[in-house]
Amino acid sequence: MRLDWTTHSRPIIALSPMADMTDSAFCRVVKEVTNGAPLVVFREMVSAEAVVRKNDKTLGMTAIHVEERPLVQQIFGSDPATMAEACRIIAAEHNPEGFDINMGCPVYKIVHNFNGAALMNEPKLAGDIVRAMKKVINVPLSVKIRLGWDDKTQCIEFAKALEDAGADLLTVHGRTKMQGYSGVADWEAVGRVKSAVAIPVLCNGDIHTAEKVKDALAQSKCDGVLIARGALGNPWIFRQINDVLNGHELFAVTFAERMRIVRRHLALHVEQYGDHGVPLFRKHLSWYFKGMPSMKMYKDDMMKAATVDELNTVFVRFETDHDANDVTTFRPILLTKK
Ligand SMILES: Cc1cc2nc3c(=O)[nH]c(=O)nc-3n(C[C@H](O)[C@H](O)[C@H](O)COP(=O)(O)O)c2cc1C
Repeated sequence: MRLDWTTHSRPIIALSPMADMTDSAFCRVVKEVTNGAPLVVFREMVSAEAVVRKNDKTLGMTAIHVEERPLVQQIFGSDPATMAEACRIIAAEHNPEGFDINMGCPVYKIVHNFNGAALMNEPKLAGDIVRAMKKVINVPLSVKIRLGWDDKTQCIEFAKALEDAGADLLTVHGRTKMQGYSGVADWEAVGRVKSAVAIPVLCNGDIHTAEKVKDALAQSKCDGVLIARGALGNPWIFRQINDVLNGHELFAVTFAERMRIVRRHLALHVEQYGDHGVPLFRKHLSWYFKGMPSMKMYKDDMMKAATVDELNTVFVRFETDHDANDVTTFRPILLTKK
């Protein structure tokens, strides 16, 4: 399967990379419920240094199930030679359809070492990383950035430097590093990057419902969108985006469908992580049932369950109490935008 950002159908719809979330199990679930609509998944970031050190856990995180393809593996790091070597190793082992560089992560653990968003202050180094990676891969290379460190216009020159270095696509999260997740994503500012470069640009930030895709595309004039938190506990969002774009009635997620996918996700999660997968799955349970009033009665038991059987016992009680056809949207939208 080949990925070509210039000829890919428009708008490009993609799952954004999320550490500890967009692992193989979640990407498989998202693909399964998307019902065949075109979707590219971006895997959570891995450290280039850990890959080069042949850290087993990190290399394991880059394994790909065939159903997930086309898949883009995101990498973070700041040394061009190490980034290139990490790509070479991952490509040889797992052959993702694309690579992405994290130049937008704001957390201290990442930026203090010139990784993530810190690279936005180092355009020469950022360009060197892109050039070094391009030399060793034969798949598209994209870069995920923010609007800037603390200046929303910094992305313009930075995006041009990345394009000159050979980047094939950019994603812009419409906030600065200093904003973190506060305020609202500025889709018009993302659009200024789109006007400044010839390569495709994806708009990211606060696109939390299928309907918002149209607004984000209209305001940014981008080639597509990258969806992160909107997909947590809501893998159906990509199917719903396809419905919105094609003028179909929005796919309604019944309680029965929600429980079917929670069980399927749990099974894939345990397949990936073994027994340890059950406690690790709690973060997903919180998202699947976020904002659901009746959840209060079951939450403690769900969070205490240590095995699939224990969890299933709680699910069965929960189902007995709930109308299988209920299509109430439980999760309050994370941010209400504009
Ligand atoms: C739990 C979590 C983990 C994240 N991990 C990554 C990551 O590994 N790489 C990355 O580029 N962005 C990461 N992000 C940022 C998202 O990809 C995205 O840019 C941001 O959440 C804004 O989009 P949204 O409003 O659709 O959530 C993460 C976000 C969250 C919430």
